[in-house]
Amino acid sequence: MKLTSVPENLAERLALWLNIAPTPVSDTMLGFMLARTVMVAVKLEIFEVLADQPQTIAQVAAQCSTDVKATRILLNTLVQLGYAQLNQDQYALSSLARKWLLKESKVSLRDKMLLQFLEWDFTEHYEDYLRTGEPLNYHYHMDSKQWETYQQGMRSMAEISAWEIGRRTPVPAQATQMLDIGGAHGFYSIELCQRYPRLQSTILELPDAIEHAQPILAEKNPNGRVRYQAGNALTDDLGEAQWDLVFMSSLAHHFDEEANAELAKRVARALRPGGYYIVQDLIRTDRPKSGDHLGGLLNMYFAATSEAGTYSEPEIHQWQKQASLVPQRSVWLRSIPRHAQIVAKKM
Ligand SMILES: C[S@@+](CC[C@H](N)C(=O)[O-])C[C@H]1O[C@@H](n2cnc3c(N)ncnc32)[C@H](O)[C@@H]1O
Repeated sequence: MKLTSVPENLAERLALWLNIAPTPVSDTMLGFMLARTVMVAVKLEIFEVLADQPQTIAQVAAQCSTDVKATRILLNTLVQLGYAQLNQDQYALSSLARKWLLKESKVSLRDKMLLQFLEWDFTEHYEDYLRTGEPLNYHYHMDSKQWETYQQGMRSMAEISAWEIGRRTPVPAQATQMLDIGGAHGFYSIELCQRYPRLQSTILELPDAIEHAQPILAEKNPNGRVRYQAGNALTDDLGEAQWDLVFMSSLAHHFDEEANAELAKRVARALRPGGYYIVQDLIRTDRPKSGDHLGGLLNMYFAATSEAGTYSEPEIHQWQKQASLVPQRSVWLRSIPRHAQIVAKKM
């Protein structure tokens, strides 16, 4: 997936083609301004007040406690961006905003938008990272409020794909025990436990995460079959021949290659014969020239803010093979771009 300048007329098309258009300005300035505009509209609840019926500028400003002139500018910008519609003097939600940004939508990304204020601050660390090579390691520096925002943001992303993951994750026949490493809000565990009635899941999580993830899980936990175990995947013993399925979603990118390879060995020991180790993550193409913006930009983000970056399918297979696990067919997800489950089996 790419973020790129789309020409609006023939002159712009030519300018882009001839490299006359100042593309670095559109890549950077438009990118960050668009992001902040949508994020702040979410934070100030602009979309929420338009949810039931179209409103005038004054009505929006009164309900959101915002300045009238500033609200007019914001609403008109949202119309330009395709997040709102204008009819006479009334503003309404576009289908884009209605589907993705309202609190009550089934696939609401509202909490992810709020998390992005935190992620925005994390990117301030890029320069220091490049000078020192030292990542921010945010998992070890967040305060309680930030942990809450982080867990809610992760939950809102998971809601988009939980259904597909429940349906398409390979689960060994007769499986009863699942270990969900860094499972946070537990949405994937819940989905799998609902689909496989004999399955129970243990979420191995950092203690700070559990404090804020537990209330999210509590709302959905099927018969208490999902439980937490406080610990650290980098150092804890995961047991021996104890699990049928070890699932790890969006955590490999926080660990460097050495840590991932070492973790795969502890997972292999902890799996029962026939069990699966599934690393689910954004998969970076192993060809830097492919122009994969998402894989490349997240690689930079995780390198600077955590400990590692995104990985390619062959890199993940390599850790699994070094742990004597046998790679199986990967499951490429349809509900989130470039995400896949890289599966290996214990023979
Ligand atoms: C990006 S979130 C992914 C959450 C969830 N698995 C998902 O895919 O939505 C990463 C999670 O891993 C947890 N985590 C980070 N380092 C960890 C560690 N060393 N051991 C266990 N969990 C860890 C974090 O607390 C966080 O909840």
